[in-house]
Amino acid sequence: MEKIDWGKLPFGYFKTDYNVRCYYKDGKWGEIEVSSSEYINIHIAATCLHYGQECFEGMKVFRGKDGKIRVFRWEKNAKRMQRSCHGIMMAEPPVELFKEMMIKVIKLNKNHIPLPGLGASLYLRPLLIGSGAQVGIKPANEYLFVIFVGPVGPYFKEGFNPVDVQIVKDYDRTAPQGTGHIKVGGNYAASLRPAERAKQEGFSTVLFLDSKENKYIDEAGPANFFGIKGNTYITPDSSTILLSITNMSLRTLAEDMNMKVEKRPVHIDELAEFDEVGACGTAAVISPIKKIVDRETGKVYEYCKDGKAGPISTKLYNTLKGIQEGEIEDKHGWNMIIE
Ligand code: PLP
Ligand code: COI
Repeated sequence: MEKIDWGKLPFGYFKTDYNVRCYYKDGKWGEIEVSSSEYINIHIAATCLHYGQECFEGMKVFRGKDGKIRVFRWEKNAKRMQRSCHGIMMAEPPVELFKEMMIKVIKLNKNHIPLPGLGASLYLRPLLIGSGAQVGIKPANEYLFVIFVGPVGPYFKEGFNPVDVQIVKDYDRTAPQGTGHIKVGGNYAASLRPAERAKQEGFSTVLFLDSKENKYIDEAGPANFFGIKGNTYITPDSSTILLSITNMSLRTLAEDMNMKVEKRPVHIDELAEFDEVGACGTAAVISPIKKIVDRETGKVYEYCKDGKAGPISTKLYNTLKGIQEGEIEDKHGWNMIIE
């Protein structure tokens, strides 16, 4: 294996030694297979190709200074994948199968788990696709569940340094009663055009509003949104956002810090009242936001006046990272130690 500069990894695809696969056929899941190929052989009429029958997850594995390998809250991802499958009529992988495949793929790729303290981790990408052939619009009879992995650095190149985001009103990533609450590929396809435009216009990502009234904050690209007002952690409640496991964890940590937590609709005008705002997710961890620009009205909201993340976002970030890397006591039992 070539020498990897763990501290300089981008968030991107990285070839590792093995992935694991399991096929669903004749109404049941088969044996777990280990593969060193980066390719899958797939039917030309597979439902994932034509009708978007596919979903995925994203999780991180950390190597601690104590040498232990930890995976963060994996059961939440396993259950969310089941909800995604349910939403678009795919076979749901049992939690036990998810766990067995996850442990296997981590152990097989142990030499790609980054060294501690460099802001890198091993990213796990569970992927489930409709592999059976259909030409009529119907769910497939066969499915393929794959987990591949790769070492990654921060999602936004700024890492924990504040980013700029753009409010878009002329695109929605999902419909009010659509698939926004589950992790299916179509939501991401719908977000590509506004996200790329935002990048060209100098922003790290977009801030989507609710798709019914275009008034309330939904999500910050591939991450949830939160704002800090005094001693309160506020995050949007909406049926069209992904239930972020990171956000869920930050709410618990905020409560541990004796903060008030509110999950409720957040009107766009409230942006002017926050002391700190950020985007949170597995890939993004916490990305503090320094500027939000409403593309339609040109209105600008500014935070982090000294160029740095605010004190509460910093404390939440350090606590979350500390738990994930085994530096801070895991009192909620969020980590599973692989070995
Ligand atoms: N929202 C979207 C659209 C995402 O893709 C993600 C990433 O998974 C998140 C939020 C954050 O969720 P989590 O913290 O579970 O990774
Ligand atoms: C994650 O945070 O794991 C994501 O899936 C976000 C993005 C890379 C799709």
